[in-house]
Amino acid sequence: AVCGLGITVGITACAPSSPAVDTVGNVDFDTPLAIPPLAERTVDADGTVHVDLTAEQGTTEFRSDTETPTMGYNGSYLGPTIRVNRGEHFAPCLTNNLDEVTTLHWHGMHLPAAADGGPHQPIEPGADWCPDWTIDQPAATLWYHPHAHEDTERQVSHGMAGMLQISDAVETALPLPREYGVDDIPVIVQDARFSDDGEFEKTNDFVGTLGDTLLVNGTIGPYLDVTTDVVRLRILNASPARVYDFAFDDDREFAMIASDGGLLEKPVTLDHVRLSPAERAEILVRLQPGETVTLRSNPPDLGENFQPITGAAGHADRFDVLQLRAASSLDHVGEVPETLTTIDPIDPADAVGERSFTLSGHSINDKQMVMDRIDAVATVGTTEIWNVVNEMPAPHNFHVHDVQFQVLSVSGSPPPPELAGWKDTIYLEPDVEYRIIMEFADYADDENPYMYHCHLLRHEDAGMMGQFLVVEPGADVPSQWRVDETPGD
Ligand code: C2O
Ligand code: CU
Repeated sequence: AVCGLGITVGITACAPSSPAVDTVGNVDFDTPLAIPPLAERTVDADGTVHVDLTAEQGTTEFRSDTETPTMGYNGSYLGPTIRVNRGEHFAPCLTNNLDEVTTLHWHGMHLPAAADGGPHQPIEPGADWCPDWTIDQPAATLWYHPHAHEDTERQVSHGMAGMLQISDAVETALPLPREYGVDDIPVIVQDARFSDDGEFEKTNDFVGTLGDTLLVNGTIGPYLDVTTDVVRLRILNASPARVYDFAFDDDREFAMIASDGGLLEKPVTLDHVRLSPAERAEILVRLQPGETVTLRSNPPDLGENFQPITGAAGHADRFDVLQLRAASSLDHVGEVPETLTTIDPIDPADAVGERSFTLSGHSINDKQMVMDRIDAVATVGTTEIWNVVNEMPAPHNFHVHDVQFQVLSVSGSPPPPELAGWKDTIYLEPDVEYRIIMEFADYADDENPYMYHCHLLRHEDAGMMGQFLVVEPGADVPSQWRVDETPGD
């Protein structure tokens, strides 16, 4: 098709996405994008980095004259962005000033299970929780959020989420934009629905709440004044259920430089990127002086076997996300590098075993989360291959704690380049087999399990989650646990 020349060739041939889609929750872009503050770090003589967080409830004025009851960290909505470096000993401390139990999960982090902040590390109202570990993984955009048993959707969608950025020598040596809030921008995307009196409302779609209003770092209708020729957007889908397909309104290309667990080997040129709940993408976009371009989300392709009748029909929406307004002269902040990092492929021949995980209904392998049942026992220092399939015609995704995994294949074929780096969460197109490989390194603990689960938060709360232990070679699993590894080997 000949497109963009003012020639009409057929009716649909030129449209990259369905022209019949209306933009939902049209916004005026009249509010500057809120940038979460950087978390304050105090560094001990021995180099330990402390960050203090307080879980709080309050209200937030998303729209003028309407106060919405919200929750957040060190404020009433979202949390500060934490910046740490590989090799640092990190000692965060959360004080729970809510009048309910919460937990603090470090999504994407390789860390001891006792520090993971899953449902086995509840923090009672008024209590503190202060884990510590050494950051030892590549530069990446991670995030933190509560993981309270059966209560994650409500707490996260009331605002309990924050970004955590790891830097390392590889990332620092690259000519990438990295001035926080200037050319290196957190973009935390959540969809919400408001009642007439301004409270967040749940909906009963099978997938969980699909909102009609986008909050970007908590801002409705945000714009960003851009002063550099290249901008780095660190996009985090912190929504309870919605899958986005991010693109620009003029379909311009951008360079994706990082997925969940860090830099890709080289930038991938894309004109759209799909992100399911909890997934991240870092992208570089180039702007011309004086221009305005809008990041939006088009209706995502949820897979060939997806059926809208299964309760996710609202995914057909298009949203405007963020307007970028370039100044009339732009500072030059560097080129898009040709290569970014080296990722050693994990060798399937090193795997000690394979497991299969089938998602259907609100179950994984026909089981729902039980706090005292262990669904997989892995040995520290070993590699495993997990085969994951979503057998429903509805959206699900799959997140594994502690590790960053590599995708070996998608339906038997090599993954697309944007899925070829480190991942901790992957969207599962219905009836497609995702073969992923991971190493359980460093931390053995037979008292504290890690989780794997669907990151559509209502599904997670409903029990679409399992638990795995990482133990010393030859260790017996303590009798407090009931072990049911079906159908693993
Ligand atoms: Cu982002 Cu188990 O969570
Ligand atoms: Cu799910």
